[in-house]
Amino acid sequence: MICPKTTCLSPIIVALDFPDVASAIGMANRLDPAMCRVKVGKELFTRAGPAVIDALQSKGFDVFLDLKFHDIPTTTAKAVGVAARMGVWMVNVHALGGRRMMEACREALEQQSLKPLPLLMAVTILTSMSDTDLQEIGFKAGTNEMVQHLTALVANSGMDGVVCSAQEASVLKCSHGADFKLVTPGIRPTHSSADDQCRIVTPLEAIQNGSDYLVIGRPITQADEPLAVLKAVLVSLN
Ligand code: C5P
Repeated sequence: MICPKTTCLSPIIVALDFPDVASAIGMANRLDPAMCRVKVGKELFTRAGPAVIDALQSKGFDVFLDLKFHDIPTTTAKAVGVAARMGVWMVNVHALGGRRMMEACREALEQQSLKPLPLLMAVTILTSMSDTDLQEIGFKAGTNEMVQHLTALVANSGMDGVVCSAQEASVLKCSHGADFKLVTPGIRPTHSSADDQCRIVTPLEAIQNGSDYLVIGRPITQADEPLAVLKAVLVSLN
């Protein structure tokens, strides 16, 4: 199913990290598509498949399909093409799939007769990885160096931007310019619990650092009044 992308101007993407369609749609019903977009990740998509994307889009939400595709170029490009035809607003791949994989994904998108095309993003180094983790898998460089190196590759491989830590955002924005989109998780409104996130940043700090889109999950989805928290976050940005 193809849905036109909405004209939502909010930078907030609410992470719908739920185990089934009913809970995800139940949360969407308590939000407003004029005030946020939504993210569907591996757990929900593996359980619910394209039906949950259709359901969210038919409620007016732009959907970020966060499956972090990483495979040979042909396979990854085909998956990106399918995501585009489902009408998602944003889709992502792993930069570690390399230039040929990312370029094949861009070509697959350009072949779709869709307007607008989904934003095609890449993950560089997962923020859960430490320098020690990178050494263990054979990388000589540390996380900061790798993030910067891979972001340059991403920018030169036709991607629209990267998913990154809000703490990396200002450096990446300066290096790659305003049109290169930055999506940042690990956001915590003032007074929210950090949950299992380590290096947290407030919504305002993230925007000031150059983030274009802020992924926020539990501070909104676990709140008694999710819409009130969402509204308070938007107010905090003005
Ligand atoms: O609940 P919380 O705000 O921590 O949710 C953050 C969302 O962003 C989750 O869906 C998580 O998987 C995702 N994410 C993240 N850190 C990354 C990449 C994605 O927290 N580096």
